[in-house]
Amino acid sequence: MSYSTLLKNVFWFIILFPEIYCVAKKIFYSILAIFAILQLFQPDRNISSENLKSDLANYYDIPNNVESLLNSTCYDCHSNNTDYPWFINIQPIGWYMQSKINKGKSKLNFSEFGLLSTQDATEKLDEIQEVMNKNTMPLHSYKWYNKDADITIEQRDAIAQWALNLSKQISNDSTAALNKDTSLLRVLH
Ligand code: HEC
Repeated sequence: MSYSTLLKNVFWFIILFPEIYCVAKKIFYSILAIFAILQLFQPDRNISSENLKSDLANYYDIPNNVESLLNSTCYDCHSNNTDYPWFINIQPIGWYMQSKINKGKSKLNFSEFGLLSTQDATEKLDEIQEVMNKNTMPLHSYKWYNKDADITIEQRDAIAQWALNLSKQISNDSTAALNKDTSLLRVLH
């Protein structure tokens, strides 16, 4: 840019500046107003404190390490209760998260795993092995804020191995793998 064109540009900028500033301010306030209105539409939350008899770990006898892994890395999207981060309150981030939770829960719900037929349960367990082997679960975006969810190969193998064993056990004898801890019956329905 030559010296004279630069001068010309500066000249026009000074002349037009109040106009540009005015338009920019209007756009900014409009965006702010739209953002504020979005906050009025909060998604329905997935929250429940019920400890159901049909919950995977109440229904089947499962190893403690696998139970705690599933609890800390899968239950937020695959159960009746999500432990929400604060930013669920900010829309449209909250809508996006809730849509993932609803979708995940509709495909696999550990809180109601005991209600599945033998065939459906083995199918879900086979899918669990698949997602562990392919490393597609937990969703990658979820690992940004839940560092526990960034599970190691060993942890993925542990979940896959458990799912394989339970799947085999259930198809041989659907009662053999049940959780026989009768103390659960007192607190659960
Ligand atoms: C942040 C949410 C989220 C977390 C955490 C999560 N999932 Fe998912 N999961 C989903 C969504 C969403 C789908 C549906 C994928 C699709 O079809 O788009 C899904 C699908 C699945 C499926 C396939 C079910 C089917 O019927 O197709 C399996 C199996 C699964 N998840 C297992 C797991 C396991 C095991 C964990 C924990 C190690 C886990 N997921 C953690 C969101 C999640």
